[in-house]
Amino acid sequence: MTITFVGHGYVGLVTACVFADLGNMVYVVGHTPEKLKRLSSGDPLIFEPGLAELLKKNLAAKRIVFTNSYSETVPKSDVVFIAVGTPPKENGEADLSTVLSVATEIGKNLGDRYTVVSCKSTVPVGTNRMIAHKIEAVMKKGTEFDIASCPEFLREGSALTDTFEPDRVVIGSEAQKATDTLLRLHKPLPGARVLVSIESAEIIKYAANSILATKISYANLISFICEKAGGNVDEVMEGIGLDKRIGRIFLDPGVGYGGSCFPKDVKALISTGSALGVDMSLLTAVEKINDQAKENIVEKIIMNTSGKKIGIWGLAFKPNTDDIRFAPSTYIIKKLLKEAYEICAYDPEASINSKKIFGAKITFTEDPYAATKDADALVILTEWNEFKQINLARVKKSMKTPLIFDGRNIYNPQEMELLGFSYFSVGR
Ligand code: UDX
Repeated sequence: MTITFVGHGYVGLVTACVFADLGNMVYVVGHTPEKLKRLSSGDPLIFEPGLAELLKKNLAAKRIVFTNSYSETVPKSDVVFIAVGTPPKENGEADLSTVLSVATEIGKNLGDRYTVVSCKSTVPVGTNRMIAHKIEAVMKKGTEFDIASCPEFLREGSALTDTFEPDRVVIGSEAQKATDTLLRLHKPLPGARVLVSIESAEIIKYAANSILATKISYANLISFICEKAGGNVDEVMEGIGLDKRIGRIFLDPGVGYGGSCFPKDVKALISTGSALGVDMSLLTAVEKINDQAKENIVEKIIMNTSGKKIGIWGLAFKPNTDDIRFAPSTYIIKKLLKEAYEICAYDPEASINSKKIFGAKITFTEDPYAATKDADALVILTEWNEFKQINLARVKKSMKTPLIFDGRNIYNPQEMELLGFSYFSVGR
């Protein structure tokens, strides 16, 4: 099949590469010439394990082409996916301006063949119908198209596996022809097919992300109780997670969820529900607990550190990505700078992005040990694998005071004590 993606962020680029790899002809439309040039030369612009290799392979096979032209791509496409950003506005609502202007461009360029226009971007319920109206307002008379909602569930850091091996493919459409086209496109992929209305598909994406965020906030809430009552949150999560109805996954407490999806999508669902007159206090509590998780580690540092020199390990909002959007690290570093701490940070991938925010206000190092040199405390904010079996004796030697605040529970508290560290983790 021939497919066009508008947008080459995490969702657009990863999904485009996967469909190209499955043998489709894929066009990717962007508007920044510099970025299109880099993408065409095999640079994915983002760090995602395996993506550069997959991109290069499919560029070499001439199955993926980057362009700024709607007129050369949309008319020959069986499916056009919209995969542009929907950043949160001040009031939490999703900003749909790019999605809707892209819809107009697609509408102007639809050709003679039947096309399915499908939104991969996370958009509030009702948006796909708005997209259809935008297209209808500008398309040539007699153009045959249908809209469908086909949300994406990939996670950063494991985006390729998630896309090649989805748990489910959700298709929201009213037109059998559109459903059949998307079923054909997804045929090589495993996972259940969930065929639903457009509105259900739109809500599924927000409801999925919001329940995952709720699980994390629930784990954080229980960790607050454990800290005060002397319980161990790892044991508690093991104890409840073994109940098949609950499941152990996404119950790891820490310094709060971040990233480009959970914070934005929880906010957008609160905004949608509130506009419809639904009491959204469950999700406002989820946000409040998430803020508290970030605040707690700052309080622990202030209360228990005597000097002002702090090493930080981990800036990305999670491991295996260079993404720092809504990363807890940014919030926590800002707070620590306000308290006049001197910060030296290490992250294997995300330093460049963090430098754009903090510039010379903090020091960035190329190796983890350098960040601990003469430090009064070490703070761990992302659970990169390389920290898990690091030489802790060397870390201790390098620090001025052997004090660790582990926001991701990567070490065993008893072992840390035996090694001579004062060790603070979450809910243990
Ligand atoms: C998420 C969804 O998982 C994915 O399905 C959707 O398509 C996009 O949003 P992503 O943001 O890439 O994916 O990362 P995810 O692995 O879900 O983690 C999000 C945040 O939650 C991270 O900050 C992570 O550290 C945090 N988290 C996750 C926890 O604090 N505890 C957990 O148990 C799990």
